Amino acid sequence: MLLDQLGRPLRDLRISVTDRCNLRCTYCMPAEVFGPDYAFLPRTELLSFEEIERLARTFVGLGVQKLRITGGEPTLRRDLPELISRLRQIDGVQDIALTTNGLLLPRLSADLRAAGLDRVTVSIDSLDPEVFGRMNGLGTHPQKVLDGIEAALTAGLGVKINTVVQRGVNEDGLRNLWLALRDKAVLRFIEFMDVGNHNGWNLDSVVPSREVLARLSADGTGAEFQPVRPNYTGEVAARHISADGHEVGLISSVSAPFCGDCSRARISAVGVLYTCLFAGSGTDLRAPLRAGADDAAMHDLIAGVWRARRDRYSEERGEITRGQKERQKVEMSHIGG
Ligand code: GTP
Ligand code: 5AD
Ligand code: SF4
Ligand code: SF4
Repeated sequence: MLLDQLGRPLRDLRISVTDRCNLRCTYCMPAEVFGPDYAFLPRTELLSFEEIERLARTFVGLGVQKLRITGGEPTLRRDLPELISRLRQIDGVQDIALTTNGLLLPRLSADLRAAGLDRVTVSIDSLDPEVFGRMNGLGTHPQKVLDGIEAALTAGLGVKINTVVQRGVNEDGLRNLWLALRDKAVLRFIEFMDVGNHNGWNLDSVVPSREVLARLSADGTGAEFQPVRPNYTGEVAARHISADGHEVGLISSVSAPFCGDCSRARISAVGVLYTCLFAGSGTDLRAPLRAGADDAAMHDLIAGVWRARRDRYSEERGEITRGQKERQKVEMSHIGG
């Protein structure tokens, strides 16, 4: 089996299909940086569907079982259902998921489902229009996301919800969100992370997951929640169940890093392979693809990168942020989380 330097297999591939987004979340693509003059990638730079399919086949040959489509906002990529149906036909793919802000799901859910998408993970940070409008940078109303969630459920897609929690911004509305949505989908609360180079992260703006649990529970202690077994090794969210049987996931990249089991590779929209969400640089796969490399050469290139992998950024965060303030990281909009 293909293992990296820390003994971790390659199981998940996250594929970004665009660097564009129809929101400007302050923690991901702040409008001051990603403004009207921002140079997004021209279409010719993006991997074509043929190229993505070829890479996905190679990764599946190396052990990948799960594919996740990300962005930017992946539903902005034209003809996305066509890509899903190509990926669905690859033998060995057990799960195809999409991480989205949900805005275009009313239009796209039925086609995505028909193409073979298994599930979506929809991001929503607050039900309070003022808070959500501020966090998404454009004043977009949360009802637009709720409509997307309904559309996905109606189409028969599995649905999870992602909520990024930021101190002083949305922590007061967490219980509201939980009560409103927990019967429809599994909610996951994410500690605000220091991804990219522009989101103004500092440790004080992180609400640790144990406080999130306390805020979700009626008595304010979190004692009613019990941990439950992960669905699979390396699951990012630590699952908990409430006294009345509702599941919640806690994604604690800051307070409880999970690098030890990290089996995820990421490909940016231009075909750069990153072996960590916080990587400074990656390996260009597009150049050899476009230069005519055959399947065996691509297989060997990717296997070599994985074998050499030693990334464990979240476990080293303290030392790194103290030591190298200027270290550049890949932008979230290039690898989609
Ligand atoms: P499931 O397949 O449903 O378990 O999805 P997932 O939780 O792996 O993926 P999703 O795109 O929903 O990501 C949820 C959050 O976890 C996002 O904020 C991601 O940026 C973060 N995340 C996902 N994978 C990693 C990882 O390997 N390291 C870190 N630090 N964060 C991650
Ligand atoms: N910290 C934590 N989560 C983030 N996401 C985007 N930026 C950050 C950040 N700085 C989340 C999005 C989406 C998922 C892919 O990553 O909200 O749900
Ligand atoms: Fe867009 Fe998602 Fe980033 Fe928000 S978090 S700006 S919706 S890609
Ligand atoms: Fe994996 Fe890097 Fe996240 Fe650690 S920080 S879990 S190595 S992607």
